[in-house]
Amino acid sequence: MIILKTEDEVQSMREAGAIANTVLREVAAFVEPGKSTLELDEFAGSRMAFYGCKSAFLGYRDYPCNICISVNDEVVHGIAGPRRLLFGDIVSLDVGVRYGGFVGDNALTVAVGGCGVEDQALLDVTERSLMQGISQAVVGNRVCDISRAVQACVEESGMTVVKEFVGHGVGRSVHEEPQVPNFYEGGKSPKLKSGMTLAIEPMVNMGSPKVEVLSDRWTVVTRDGLRSAHFEHTILVTDSEPEILTCHENMPSTLKA
Ligand code: MF3
Ligand code: CO
Repeated sequence: MIILKTEDEVQSMREAGAIANTVLREVAAFVEPGKSTLELDEFAGSRMAFYGCKSAFLGYRDYPCNICISVNDEVVHGIAGPRRLLFGDIVSLDVGVRYGGFVGDNALTVAVGGCGVEDQALLDVTERSLMQGISQAVVGNRVCDISRAVQACVEESGMTVVKEFVGHGVGRSVHEEPQVPNFYEGGKSPKLKSGMTLAIEPMVNMGSPKVEVLSDRWTVVTRDGLRSAHFEHTILVTDSEPEILTCHENMPSTLKA
């Protein structure tokens, strides 16, 4: 069942989304060569505490960290540890927070210090595919219109979308119906309705779309060892334009740093 949110619930999701995006930006700004992924995760935890919220991921299906940190060929769900970031790495940060009973879920990929043009193209295409997907999140369309837009944007650029992991509805739970694939599956998909809240999250590989899960049971990596990027927003379907809920500009003034 797809849960449509009331205006009050949407207002709570705007707050959760604003904090999730603020923390994501803060952690992204904290990234620099020499820092360990554990330092990033601890910093994320301290910023969440500062804003009076909790990680939506820590403890979810026994996930052991505050945020997901995935470096280079790691696609998603990377686990923090002693690994130190190097100049030229790319690091995907996925931040989900719970605040006022609702979850805000968002992600981005940044270069550590700097990166080459091919890596920058991977980041740009992944972010653009997210925005193209979001632009299709309007009443009258179906979930598959989002999927198709993401996939077209990525494949036009000669890159590939990951199929084993998908976007999702989000609300009181991290994962609600419907699934939001980043590729067209064929068949019928749900109609978009005003009040739906979706996490759209393209995972884009430079090479083959194939991925596997490491023996830590979480970290997803590319099979060919080439790099992967991930961008995500939580959005609201409305009667007019889609609204990005993971938007730092909605930060309640009482919570501003
Ligand atoms: N944004 C990711 C997702 O939607 C993060 C989930 S990590 C988990 O799948 F630990 F919560 F599973
Ligand atoms: Co998500």
